[in-house]
Amino acid sequence: MTTIARSRTVRQIVHPRPRLVGASSQVPLFDGQMVRYVNLDSAASTPPLAKVRQAVEAFLPWYSSVHRGSGYKSRLSTHLYEQARDVVMRFVGAQQGKHIVIFVRNATEAINLLAHRIVLEPGELVLTTRLEHHSNLLPWYRVPHEVVELTPDGCIDLADLERRLKQHAGKVRLITVSAASNVTGILPDIQAIARMAHAYGALIALDAAQLAPHRALAMTGQGEAIDIVAFSGHKLYAPYGAGALVVPATLFADGEPMLVGGGTACLVTGTGISWATGADLEEAGSPNVIGVVAMAAALEELMRYGMEHVARHERELTRYAARRLRTIPGLTLYGPSWEGMLAGKEDRLGVFSFNLEGRAYAEVAAILANEWGVGVRSGCFCAHLYVAHLLGISEADSMEARERLIAGMPVELPGMVRASLGIGTTKRDIDRLVSGLQAIARGEIRARYTRTEYGDLEPKMGQRTFEAHGESFLS
Ligand SMILES: Cc1ncc(COP(=O)(O)O)c(C=O)c1O
Repeated sequence: MTTIARSRTVRQIVHPRPRLVGASSQVPLFDGQMVRYVNLDSAASTPPLAKVRQAVEAFLPWYSSVHRGSGYKSRLSTHLYEQARDVVMRFVGAQQGKHIVIFVRNATEAINLLAHRIVLEPGELVLTTRLEHHSNLLPWYRVPHEVVELTPDGCIDLADLERRLKQHAGKVRLITVSAASNVTGILPDIQAIARMAHAYGALIALDAAQLAPHRALAMTGQGEAIDIVAFSGHKLYAPYGAGALVVPATLFADGEPMLVGGGTACLVTGTGISWATGADLEEAGSPNVIGVVAMAAALEELMRYGMEHVARHERELTRYAARRLRTIPGLTLYGPSWEGMLAGKEDRLGVFSFNLEGRAYAEVAAILANEWGVGVRSGCFCAHLYVAHLLGISEADSMEARERLIAGMPVELPGMVRASLGIGTTKRDIDRLVSGLQAIARGEIRARYTRTEYGDLEPKMGQRTFEAHGESFLS
């Protein structure tokens, strides 16, 4: 169903908002009551778009090996796999001939591959930041690197970045930074960082795991170019195990791939290897063509709808959520103030990390799940440095906790609750979250909770086991 929005001069086709699989799933509360599931955990992972399921189901009968068979189905699978690279190119605004798309499992693998393959000359280093997800931090611990500091309210300190670029005069090979934070939803000034990188002869890489599902990406054609982009399909409504790394075609020309094996060599003798080139060199083994088809279908659907419409819808919800969350007594929202976003002066993703006075973060998350049917995440979100900064935990305190861990002593990590929005979120979803948090703030908690053997909090009465439900998928 397509609607036509009329104005005096322009007739614009507005496609309906993409639908998600499982949007009306019912889940049990602690007392057995069934309610519609409210998914406020899009920053962790997303359900498939209905179009993605359709694409996968349509493709399955035609599935066969990629780059490895002469049969019709193999050639068709190979064709689709290669065509998906063009879809990714369009989605990120990359340039044919200048960039290549390498298919990987997820953003983590993409950034590990980048860290493995970028060849640093003696004295060269990489700059990453304190705001990063571990996937854009730990791979860089393995090579010469420095971590750029943050401002007190939790933004990347651009003055510190510039100081380091000056200090290392021409030796910074790469600046790698999150295009959007998975903790506070802030959108670092990527254009300013890209300009600085290029002014000092460095490349810029974007960890776009969070940005890609919510805002348009433009590696080329708009403002300062972006050299490298990494993202995951499962955060982009295609949870079938594929992701992408987009790099300049020349970047990995030298050196050997991270994984070696089938597909990575042109000729092998008893003593030597002639390596394949381009994306083939980096994609050892039989590729995940189902995952790649799913991801391409998701990107096509998002582009058809228009990332500007995704952004508009989510901005409105984000403002609504920020306004409502700020009214909850005892709730602390972390990160830079939301005033700029609420005043329409700055952009931000719908990612809210908070704590409720007097309640542990895991308790709040468990109550929301078991008494309100709301799925959120709690903990440190694989961003220990950033979360510690926002909570005011010093490096000395973190080191002390680490020593306790090394000594085998129990350590209760500090953390937060995170609610994150996506394309399927509605105001009703946010209202349910807010009602739940208001009730918790008033001390209205209906179940009693105990820790399971996995460390999760579960309602004491009627501890849930997922065995029967789980088996129903496998039998
Ligand atoms: C900013 C950011 N980067 C990287 C990742 C890693 O993504 P994946 O687990 O899909 O590899 C995440 C996941 O939450 C993320 O939020």
